[in-house]
Amino acid sequence: MTNDIKDLKLSQAGKKRIEWAAKDMPVLNLIKARWEKDQPLKKVRLAACLHVTAETANLVRALKAGGAEVLLCASNPLSTQDDVAAALIKEYGIKVFAVYGEDKKSYYAHLRAALDFKPNITMDDGADLLTLLHTEYKNQAKDIWGSMEETTTGVIRLKALEKSGKLAVPIMAVNDAKTKNMFDNRYGTGQSTLDGIIRATDILIAGKNLVVAGYGWCGRGFASRARGLGAKVIVTEVDQIKALEAAMDGFQVMPMKEAARIGDLFCTLTGDINVIREEHFKLMKHGAMVCNSGHFDVEINVRELKKMAIRVNKNVRNNVDEYVIGSRNKELGIRESAKSLKSIYLLAEGRLINLAAAEGHPASVMDMSFATQALATEHVVKNYKRLEKKVYNVPVELEQWIADLKLKSMSLAIDKLTKEQAEYLRGWEIGT
Ligand code: ADE
Repeated sequence: MTNDIKDLKLSQAGKKRIEWAAKDMPVLNLIKARWEKDQPLKKVRLAACLHVTAETANLVRALKAGGAEVLLCASNPLSTQDDVAAALIKEYGIKVFAVYGEDKKSYYAHLRAALDFKPNITMDDGADLLTLLHTEYKNQAKDIWGSMEETTTGVIRLKALEKSGKLAVPIMAVNDAKTKNMFDNRYGTGQSTLDGIIRATDILIAGKNLVVAGYGWCGRGFASRARGLGAKVIVTEVDQIKALEAAMDGFQVMPMKEAARIGDLFCTLTGDINVIREEHFKLMKHGAMVCNSGHFDVEINVRELKKMAIRVNKNVRNNVDEYVIGSRNKELGIRESAKSLKSIYLLAEGRLINLAAAEGHPASVMDMSFATQALATEHVVKNYKRLEKKVYNVPVELEQWIADLKLKSMSLAIDKLTKEQAEYLRGWEIGT
């Protein structure tokens, strides 16, 4: 099997979207232009397990322009843009294994195809490919020079693997670069999560009680954008410092058990499991909407919601399922009637709402994330003989270079330290 996608005939539509996104990716375009000349990735076989979007298409085009042979598979069954997948094969000569809505079996068959390609560099968004490498494909780990990890959840998994002493390849924690998480996680997730919710439901955000679970970069970005649209935002947290930060940013902070009674719309962005579960569904109002913008579909306990439901009406709108469940009356011993039934609406099956129901983060912010991916890859190719089986941060000089170019592309100039200021910062003698 050389490719597996939905329909090659979609390629023209995909090409247009890829070109549209490219206009907003100036830093990545500069890297691509340099790589076309220098060919730093010559002889590299690169397997990327990422969301198959127009922005990712521009990353893999740059990798190919740098000399690499590239295979792309999806990092989530509901995030593939089928037209982009078609264009990548037909217009740009990339191998692609990804179909929107594929089941678990097909998803893993595609990951296996990526490792059967015998890559020497891999890229992951969530660490599913590396997990497969460390289980079914253990013997292949010695041939891998290094792997890039795009997301918070993936870095957490890979650090756990490192801690267990079983990490078999060097990792670059692309997610942990400031050029990635401060922008992609905050402004990208902030905007694209609202975009997904609005496309799925068409609800007015203004005036809604909106519950944000998790106040990391993603939660911060989403909470601030939701407030901008007029939502009354409530934050739930398990971390004292983040909870304090949310409170001083002006949000209400309370446990999920309290928020559950109040919320009109709930969104999880925690990276942890079962953040919204039966005890919370029981307390929710009729008509409450629940969605997730964390990496995996484990943050909302959909299994419990299904168990509680007397009926599930699938697709009452695209990406919206209605779960009809008994209300609190049952708990209180009051006889059930049609009136005491309530509906809870689950968006995008609890998968990443921004990629399942919208198009993910806009190109301008993915420009910084994927410039970081690209330069981290070049760093691994140049240095792999010296790298250990560890989780590395992206070198800070690469972050500075990306930030400089992004500022220039936005026609923004900044001040330079004077000689006197630089000396002052180096010294310790001058005090009060
Ligand atoms: N993650 C979030 N948004 C994305 C996008 N547009 N492309 C690839 N990965 C993403």
